[in-house]
Amino acid sequence: MRSEQLPTPAALVDLDVLERNASRMAQRAARLGARLRPHVKTHKTLEAARIQTRGSFGGITVSTLAEAEFFAAGGFADITYAVPIAPARLAAAADLARRVERLNLLVDHPDAADAAAACARHRGVRLSVFLKVDCGYHRAGVDPDREESVALAARLAASPHLDFRGILTHAGHAYRCRTAEEVRAVAAAERDVTAKFAVRLRAAGVPVAEVSIGSTPTLAVADDLAGVTEVRPGNYAFFDATQVALGSCALGDVAFSVLVRVIGRYPERRELLVDGGALALSSDPGPVQVDPRCGFGIPCTAAGEPLAGWRVASLSQEHGIVRSPRPIAAGTFPIGTLLRIVPNHSCLAAALFDRYAVLRGGEVVGAWCPVRGW
Ligand SMILES: Cc1ncc(COP(=O)(O)O)c(C=O)c1O
Repeated sequence: MRSEQLPTPAALVDLDVLERNASRMAQRAARLGARLRPHVKTHKTLEAARIQTRGSFGGITVSTLAEAEFFAAGGFADITYAVPIAPARLAAAADLARRVERLNLLVDHPDAADAAAACARHRGVRLSVFLKVDCGYHRAGVDPDREESVALAARLAASPHLDFRGILTHAGHAYRCRTAEEVRAVAAAERDVTAKFAVRLRAAGVPVAEVSIGSTPTLAVADDLAGVTEVRPGNYAFFDATQVALGSCALGDVAFSVLVRVIGRYPERRELLVDGGALALSSDPGPVQVDPRCGFGIPCTAAGEPLAGWRVASLSQEHGIVRSPRPIAAGTFPIGTLLRIVPNHSCLAAALFDRYAVLRGGEVVGAWCPVRGW
């Protein structure tokens, strides 16, 4: 089947590009001396995770317990669930921990630490835990400068029911950067804050085996990971319009796009209507700090060539308005024309589809079904 025959909107994964992205990141991590534990939430598929872990130790990162269960059933045995664990999910996590070699959980509060230890004792299992550290994103994690953070790490390490693995951070604030310089500063902070905290913990007698960091923008610029043992980028498998704007990749490195058809044509306002709205592209506003006019994705031809100056100007649930910077000539872009949109955030857009059409060249060579739910 050719991609032109697909019903739209359709999620497309370019296999050659995905494989290239995966092998580049694997080489990068190896060169920087860190283990690669890719975050698989971007695609949530066994097939892409297997490509990302080729030649590596096989560990992965997930962001839901549903993903942890799915990837464990698919043969992945070393999984980090990289969201602070809700106490109500501890029992399910403990059951899964029994069935895999290692399931790492995250905590950043003494109450969560106590709940994890109590659950582990009750269920007769030793739970692996990381202390989540805030390196400046201010989403989750302890402040590494506070004494209480050292005390919490010591409490985790002292528990007979927990296996304290180390510390973990994610520099999500890299997505707010405007320049390459700013991304470099965030990348340095991600590494330095965590590495320094590990030194401080060890000096206080707390054993820290793992120092885990990582995001796609920060790893794109990292040139020295001294003190770091593991990296967890995820978006790099697909990349997207935001990563292009941040300079993490070129447009030709984006492996994920949404195929849409022109379903309305309004030359008087230089606009086309396409059958992909917010439920195909997500309404992620994109890198507005870099380009306030970025719109909701990069409109391209069906072959993937960008339409210079065009924008996805607005979205409703199932409709997208694509605006041309020039008059739309008679006879061009007739109803039914196929376009590809590179979304602002491929993780969110991919999560809106139950299957991806996997392409080599223009040929559909497979269908991958992601796990859904929490
Ligand atoms: C805890 C954690 N680690 C790693 C990642 C991967 O980051 P990226 O998608 O920028 O590669 C994320 C992404 O949100 C995350 O939340």
